[in-house]
Amino acid sequence: MTRVARPRRFLMCRPTHFDVSYAINPWMDPAKPVDTGLAVAQWERLYELYLGLGHRVDLIDPVPGLPDMVYAANGATVVGGRVLGARFRNAERAAEGPAYLEWFRARGFAVHDPLHVNEGEGDLLLTGRHLLAGRGFRSVSAGHAEAQEFLRRPVIGLDLVDPRFYHLDTALSVLDTDEVMYYPGAFSEGSREVLRRLFPDALLVEEADAEVFGLNAMSDGLHVVLPEAATGVAAKLRARGFRPVGVDLSELFKGGGSVKCCTLEIREPA
Ligand code: ARG
Repeated sequence: MTRVARPRRFLMCRPTHFDVSYAINPWMDPAKPVDTGLAVAQWERLYELYLGLGHRVDLIDPVPGLPDMVYAANGATVVGGRVLGARFRNAERAAEGPAYLEWFRARGFAVHDPLHVNEGEGDLLLTGRHLLAGRGFRSVSAGHAEAQEFLRRPVIGLDLVDPRFYHLDTALSVLDTDEVMYYPGAFSEGSREVLRRLFPDALLVEEADAEVFGLNAMSDGLHVVLPEAATGVAAKLRARGFRPVGVDLSELFKGGGSVKCCTLEIREPA
């Protein structure tokens, strides 16, 4: 199968103020030291990599006191130039929602300030046909309904059951228009059946690869940028004609995120 790369537009946030000073997912341990300088250097390599692949990357200014703001994927969901803002479950991240929304508003995007919890592309992943929507740990069903109404795409709710994979983007990744990879163990039995029906040819990922955030990947249709430790996924991707590109984001892993978490896709009007 011939794979074609499509240039994307991303929004990223330099981890200038990155730290693990609270724990809101099982990966975060405030007792473990964080090297912010190293986090910035690793993030810079991801940023340069995207530019080298021909993507456009906009930057939002990091805000002091918001150590998780580097995980830009959680800041909003953008479909056809319409921006659904994020509303965070945890008070520690609440101020990130307005900060991201303001970035888009100032640039003339149509924005919607949400009433219900949705953590942006952490839980809302767009395929050609659907908006796949995770719930169970962060985003809620009412937030999915709000996303469907404002973004005008059919929502498929998916129940996450393993706290290690608390956001949909840690358990499932969109590789191409209607092609995905996922770790079945992260989902409820019913949601696993839904995924089998929607994506009978999905690439299934092993627990060992999911645990190193191998699913927290960013595909442009050809290159799949993912954590370098996820060697099993990389081999499976290569067999399907993709070009996996491994990166080391070990410091950002300490906050419970990786490649996709650091990358918010800006989908402009067709
Ligand atoms: N510390 C952040 C949190 O727990 C990590 C967010 C990771 N982002 C993501 N898109 N999964 O909310």
